Amino acid sequence: MAYRIQMLEPAAAFDAEEGETLLDAAERAGIRLPHDCRFGTCGTCRVRIATGRVAYEDFPPGLSPEEDAAGFALACQAHALADVTLQPERLLAPCSPPQRYRATVQAVQALGEGVTHLRLDLPPEAGELVYRPGQYGNLFLEDGSPRSFSMASRPDGRGVDFHLRRIPEGRFTHHRVGGLRAGDTLEVELPLGTFCHHPEDYRPLLLLATGTGLAPLKSILESLMDSDDCPPVALYWGARDERDLYLHQEVAGWADRFDDFRYVPVLSRAGEGWQGRRGYVQQAAIEDFPDLSEHAIYLCGSPAMVEQSRREFLARGASIDHVYADSFTFQAS
Ligand code: FES
Repeated sequence: MAYRIQMLEPAAAFDAEEGETLLDAAERAGIRLPHDCRFGTCGTCRVRIATGRVAYEDFPPGLSPEEDAAGFALACQAHALADVTLQPERLLAPCSPPQRYRATVQAVQALGEGVTHLRLDLPPEAGELVYRPGQYGNLFLEDGSPRSFSMASRPDGRGVDFHLRRIPEGRFTHHRVGGLRAGDTLEVELPLGTFCHHPEDYRPLLLLATGTGLAPLKSILESLMDSDDCPPVALYWGARDERDLYLHQEVAGWADRFDDFRYVPVLSRAGEGWQGRRGYVQQAAIEDFPDLSEHAIYLCGSPAMVEQSRREFLARGASIDHVYADSFTFQAS
């Protein structure tokens, strides 16, 4: 038996077979839904169920029970139990359509011990690439398999920046990127993803990152710098030790670019000389913000941090409608 799945924005409809995920059914009908991991972790495929019912074989880790109760679902895991209407979460600002390009490496350099900064120039056919700060792109290995990384700078024309965490013996971040030199070319696809800044959600901003989860938040913050109407910003950046804070000085310097900017690095395995906060980044934010009912919250980094933050923040009054998350998973092979 098939169920009818109606999308309100953009208007479209497709059929889903019993037990078939909403994402698979949409793709079978030639409809592109945003997605990334396909296994219920990253949250990129989150949709809102306006009418109808869905269920899961296994409840996905990327969805909290509160989100489930509020009518959200993960399209890569949910299957319909009735006809369903999908409501857009929010209308997103326009951006360039996702497309594949052969980009040229402009710079590749180490940022601290474990992270590489990669700057790519896009070819003239990319025109003035427009992406929403926070979105990501796919970089391709020679065999055509993709690796996803967030853009780490605000849109500025034809170039894009990435922060790549080096995974020991990782096919892309170790072997492929280790051999790249300025002038080499690399296949990319962008812009992708629904995680992005929502300027219409004008509230004090609480941003949490672990590791290279800083990249999409850097893109968002660069798009807000030097603006008169930027709300107060609190950025919490979690890492293991000082060496992992690969842009510490630069981030600290952003205080000069905002009216109200607070930067709190938090280390889980700090050395003895560390004078700053210790522990987990979400714990530090919880200690500092007992009431989160007025904030727009952006979470980027490890699935554990994203999941725990979401749960704890909702318990402290944060609204599901104002929490945006991008969960990073890593592929070593
Ligand atoms: Fe569905 Fe990642 S694509 S949770």
